Amino acid sequence: MRILLLADTFNSLTQRVYAELTYRNHELSVELALSDEIIGEAVELYQPELIIAPFLTKIIPKRICCDHVCIIIHPGIKGDRGISSLDWAIMTEAKEWGVTAIQATTEVDAGQIWSSFNFQMRPDSKSCLYRTEVAQAAIKVILQTIERFESGEFVPEPLNYSREDVKGCWHPYMKQEVRAIDWTKDSVSTIVKKIRSADSRPGLLDTIDGEQYYLYGAHEEDLLQGTPGQIIAQRHGAICRGAVDGAVWISHLKKKKPGKSSACLKLPAAIVLGDKLKSIPEDPLPLFVPGNRKTFQEIWYEEKNQVGYLYFEFYKGAMSIDQCQRLTNAFCYARSRPTKVIVLMGGHDFWSNGFNLNIVEADDNPSDVSWRHINAINHLVATILTTNTHLTIAAMQGNAAAGGVMIALAADYVYARSGIVINPHYQLMGLYGSEYWTYLLPKRVGNKRAMELTASCLPVCTQLAQDIGLIDWAFGEHPISFRLSVLQKAEQIAKCPDYSEKLALKNQKRLQDEQIKPLKAYVTEELQQIHINLCGAEQLYHTARHQFVYKISPSQTPLYLAKHRSACQAIEH
Ligand code: COA
Repeated sequence: MRILLLADTFNSLTQRVYAELTYRNHELSVELALSDEIIGEAVELYQPELIIAPFLTKIIPKRICCDHVCIIIHPGIKGDRGISSLDWAIMTEAKEWGVTAIQATTEVDAGQIWSSFNFQMRPDSKSCLYRTEVAQAAIKVILQTIERFESGEFVPEPLNYSREDVKGCWHPYMKQEVRAIDWTKDSVSTIVKKIRSADSRPGLLDTIDGEQYYLYGAHEEDLLQGTPGQIIAQRHGAICRGAVDGAVWISHLKKKKPGKSSACLKLPAAIVLGDKLKSIPEDPLPLFVPGNRKTFQEIWYEEKNQVGYLYFEFYKGAMSIDQCQRLTNAFCYARSRPTKVIVLMGGHDFWSNGFNLNIVEADDNPSDVSWRHINAINHLVATILTTNTHLTIAAMQGNAAAGGVMIALAADYVYARSGIVINPHYQLMGLYGSEYWTYLLPKRVGNKRAMELTASCLPVCTQLAQDIGLIDWAFGEHPISFRLSVLQKAEQIAKCPDYSEKLALKNQKRLQDEQIKPLKAYVTEELQQIHINLCGAEQLYHTARHQFVYKISPSQTPLYLAKHRSACQAIEH
């Protein structure tokens, strides 16, 4: 079917919808809803059979809704309306939530219902729920809607609050006042819930030392205690603040500047607060967390049945130099253990999105600091890639992009949770790319496909990734079932009677590859290109990074997404 996706931005959910529908042989084009005129033009040019809006906060013009079936993917249960759906679900501690496909009308979220799916809520941030349960349910409602639309017989259900299964209601936009923290009264769990309800947009507005900041990345702390609201410790860039019944970690802050909020970046709290943390003690943590501790921990290691599990939970999957170095050290530790298999678990929300572009942007010398970030990731990739003592598994629980994808490909086996989105390309960021991608990507998918993946700049769904050999296996839609299957698979590999042969074969293959072309040669060539990206006259990388971190909308939908426009341009030329 010929489907037009309308979205505010090509965000992770829109990417997933695009990748999954394309995989199912639908014909897709994307238009960013930049204005009513642009939307009208896109519909005129593309003549879609169906319009789907996976992530749209604007109202579709009336004439388009009248002439076409436009489906809004609303992250709420049947009857829920408004733009703060998930925020309210988190704040009211809803046990169950859902996603509903609603036919667009001029009244927000009040149209006929084409499909709806519910899921169990769990205590996590809004954006994590959005990327996991919401994305999963959104795909289900979209596939069911398409099937029903194609049948030509389905009659969508009018919104009727007297129906038993219509349990939602209208919710207003959640203002900062609703979730403001009262440090003299709020418990740790309430504070964490409030911050999570606003993560990642708009962030929870609070005051530290007389200045206003948006807070992000909240974690409960079960040992430290201190005066409510006061900063009592810091760890790896995060701050710990006392609360009436314990303490809470906050990993990221964005300073609010009156009338100029877009001029500030979301950064690790310690970078934002700088000298204000001079007298705050660093609270170290070992690589092994005893028992089920609640605290802020980015990297930890577990061991069971000859398998070592290395977790790295970096906010938004974006890695700083320090994080790369700590992860490399932790991996070296895992390698020093008398185990057989090392599983790189990544984070439960993201695998990795490569180096942290916000930190680079905030630096006085972005070229130099980018160079150092890239070299730090390269070192991590080389360390994994040249491991000859263990078999390694990358277990991608969440989305991955750019250099982050290559970290996974450095492992011997690459598994992914079904439904994550993989972006194995760098060009949109104006970069040639490094992380040994010129070796790792063709090794898995062949030269031709590697060039296609890096040039098309399109997201890849896990089914396609498995078909083309980018990953070995996709399974387990839910993070818990994925982790359980990873554990079983890793133990099987460790116990396998031909483990030693497998390890020997891998080492032999690496030696052969090294003889054909040394790893050093790959990375030297990549870094030559990167140097041009960072320091050359063309400023593509610096411009793309600036637009990305400040979330500046393009003036038009990029042609690699707007197929209807690229076709048109080709005819004109
Ligand atoms: N550095 C800093 N922040 C990053 C990041 C990075 N490398 N990659 C992703 N993020 C942030 C995004 O800004 C967004 O932040 P927000 O929640 O505050 O809005 C969040 O992580 C992810 O949002 P999501 O909706 O899941 O995806 P998206 O709309 O950002 O699109 C990608 C997904 C992967 C296409 C996009 O994040 C991307 O291009 N990332 C950069 C990859 C890269 O070039 N890395 C450097 C080279 S190795």
